[in-house]
Amino acid sequence: MSKGLRILVTGANGQLGSEFRFLQDQYPQWEFLFVTREELDLSKTSGISPYLQSVQADIIINCAAYTNVEAAEDHGADTEQNNKIVNAQNWLLNANAPRVIAEWCADNNSVLIHFSTDYVFDGKKSTPYTEIDSTHPINQYGCAKLLGENEILDTGADAIVFRVSWLYGTFGNNFMKTMIRLADANGKLSVVSDQVASPTYSRQLASDVLSIIQRFPNLKEKKGIYHYTQYGTASWFDFARRIMEYTHRNIPVSPVTSDAFPTKAVRPVYSKLDSSYTEQTFGLKLPHWEDCLKECINDLKS
Ligand SMILES: NC(=O)c1ccc[n+]([C@@H]2O[C@H](COP(=O)([O-])OP(=O)(O)OC[C@H]3O[C@@H](n4cnc5c(N)ncnc54)[C@H](OP(=O)(O)O)[C@@H]3O)[C@@H](O)[C@H]2O)c1
Repeated sequence: MSKGLRILVTGANGQLGSEFRFLQDQYPQWEFLFVTREELDLSKTSGISPYLQSVQADIIINCAAYTNVEAAEDHGADTEQNNKIVNAQNWLLNANAPRVIAEWCADNNSVLIHFSTDYVFDGKKSTPYTEIDSTHPINQYGCAKLLGENEILDTGADAIVFRVSWLYGTFGNNFMKTMIRLADANGKLSVVSDQVASPTYSRQLASDVLSIIQRFPNLKEKKGIYHYTQYGTASWFDFARRIMEYTHRNIPVSPVTSDAFPTKAVRPVYSKLDSSYTEQTFGLKLPHWEDCLKECINDLKS
C-alpha cells in the first residue's frame, strides 16, 4: 500500500497537523493534502463525505479535534446529548465527525489514522494504562473522545487510533510554550505536581506515524487502538522544571497541588499510557520524554 499514496491530513494548522506538513518532504513518493477548518468545517458533518469523495485519499490522518478541555465543560454553544446540555463543538468534532470520516473510509477501502487521549481514563490506577484497561472518562472532553473511538470502531473501518498524552511541540500553543512565556513574564513558576503522565513530542509522534505507514504496506491488518507516549513518567512540575533547565532559565519552580489552580474540568491524577503493545506491533523503540524535550527545544531554535 505504501507507494504512491494519497494522504489527507485534517486539522492541518493544528499542533500535530503542522508536524505532518513539516515532515512531508521526507516522503516525496506520497501525495499529501492538508485541509484546514476554513476549507472543511468538520462541525458541519453533512459536508464531510462529499469533500472526502472529491479527494479520494488512501489514508486520512485526522488531526482535527476540539481540544479545549476547559471550554468543553462550558455550555456556551449548547446542544442536547443523552438528555444533558453539553458543548456542541466538543461532541461534533470529537465524536460525530470521526464517525462520518470512518464511515467514508469503510465504504471506500481507505485507512483512518485517528488520535485519542489518556483522558479516556479516570486516573485511579497507579501503573501504566494498557489498551485493555477499562475506560472511564471524568471530563467532557474525555467522554467525547471516548465516544469518538467507539463510533470509529463501530463503523468497521480499517482504523488505527493512537491514544496520546500531553502533546507539545514547536507549532501551536502548548504547555512548553506557556511555561517559557510565564517564566519570562514572572521570573518564577508554580506548577501542579499531582497529575502524572508522559509528555509527548508531537514531531516524534508524526514521524513515527509516517514511518509506520511506510513500513507496513498492510496497515489495514493492524487496525485497533494503540497507546503512544514517549518513555518515562512526569508530573507537570517535573515537565516544567526540565523545560527551564533545557532552555537555560535559572528561575525557581515550585510544586503545587491541583487545588491551587481550580479548573472546571477534572483531570486524572495518573494517566501514564503503557506503549509496549505499540512498540511490539510496529517495531518502535520510543525515546525518553526528556530526550524528546531536548530535541524539541533544539528544533525551536532552528
Ligand atoms: N494537545 C494535547 O495535549 C493532546 C493530548 C491528548 C490527545 N490529543 C489529541 O491529539 C490530536 C491532535 O491534537 P493537537 O494538539 O494537534 O490539537 P490542536 O492543536 O488544537 O489542533 C486541532 C485542529 O483541529 C482543527 N479544528 C477545530 N475545529 C475544527 C472544525 N470545526 N473543522 C475543522 N477543523 C477544526 C483546528 O483548526 P484551527 O487551526 O483552525 O483552530 C486545529 O487545526 C487531537 O485528536 C487531540 O484530541 C491532544
